[in-house]
Amino acid sequence: MPASEPATTSRIGVLTGGGDAPGLNAVIRGVVKSASQLGWEVLGFERGFEGLLPAGTHRILTNDNTRGILHLGGTILGTVNRGTFASKVGEGESRPIDPATLAAARDTCEQLGLRGLVCIGGDGSLTIAQQLCETGIPVVGVPKTIDNDLEATLMTFGFDSAVAFATEALDRLHPTAAAHERVMVVEVMGRHAGWIALHAGIAGGADVILIPEISWTMEGVLRKIQQREAIGRRFSIIVAAEGARWPTGSLIAKATGEGEIGEVRLGGIGQQLAQEIQRLADRESRAVVLGHLQRGGGPTTFDRLLATRFGVNAVRLIVEGRFGRMVSYQPPDILDVPITQAVHKLRTVPPNGDLVRTARSLGISFGDG
Ligand code: F6P
Repeated sequence: MPASEPATTSRIGVLTGGGDAPGLNAVIRGVVKSASQLGWEVLGFERGFEGLLPAGTHRILTNDNTRGILHLGGTILGTVNRGTFASKVGEGESRPIDPATLAAARDTCEQLGLRGLVCIGGDGSLTIAQQLCETGIPVVGVPKTIDNDLEATLMTFGFDSAVAFATEALDRLHPTAAAHERVMVVEVMGRHAGWIALHAGIAGGADVILIPEISWTMEGVLRKIQQREAIGRRFSIIVAAEGARWPTGSLIAKATGEGEIGEVRLGGIGQQLAQEIQRLADRESRAVVLGHLQRGGGPTTFDRLLATRFGVNAVRLIVEGRFGRMVSYQPPDILDVPITQAVHKLRTVPPNGDLVRTARSLGISFGDG
């Protein structure tokens, strides 16, 4: 240990669960740096909650071995979103984790003498974290997801980076759509919330935005394309959220493995919509699926800052002994709320909220009406 670092007095753990999001490493670094100021040791559990099981692994995180990770995407600890602890089974639904699994995780934390465990995750991982807390593990939560669909925090880190990428994609697709007089359908992530589609669609100048929160019709979409053509715009850009239901009411999902536990894997609306537009309106159409490109890559400046503040404040919660709570962005402050408040339901786009009204005032269609 460098002479400048105080002797270790306490030990805490940190893990990253669920799908990755830009900024995870910035949180880990924030936790390690602020814990080391207190003279605390930090253990990083690998592969999400799996790291808490007897077969799992952990390693000591120091200022030295977390140097240079602030701007990196992914997570140095690895993550798992369909593992032993998987508890989410659908939109807003979860199942109890096997008590023996919870007990094994608690034993690990007790044997290691953890004063606190920072669980960084979205809806699914925080549902697991809450169950760990109820079993006696001193858990604090950090909200993460590119989907931005968690209650009780105005924003999750990762969202801004995903929107920035999707917006850049729209900027790139505009000139090629215009050059070839095509309809471009851009499918974005977001699961059951339309935040990424809405933010990127407005920022990237889309003509149509389809989101799960607003029912749309094929006529509505075609009408907008035709209106544009009537004024000489022979191309259109459509942003479709992966969770926007088809007009029949069904979600478009990828096949999952038999008996697979976890949430349905959404995807396919872009291709299906492009084909329908081509068929019904005889307009050359292409689908672009942004997929995991929205999750990879480094965090934006906003996400680096938010993630760092979350990490530091998670350690503050442990110092104050306020377990079962999650750090929450309530500008200009980072406050905290019970984890239960964040996971009881998804935060979705208000169909009559300011963002939707702003988009409509710009002439953007939601394929309805
Ligand atoms: O929740 C984050 C997210 O990226 C969703 O937007 C998307 O539906 C899902 O995860 C994809 O999950 P996976 O990485 O398991 O395919």
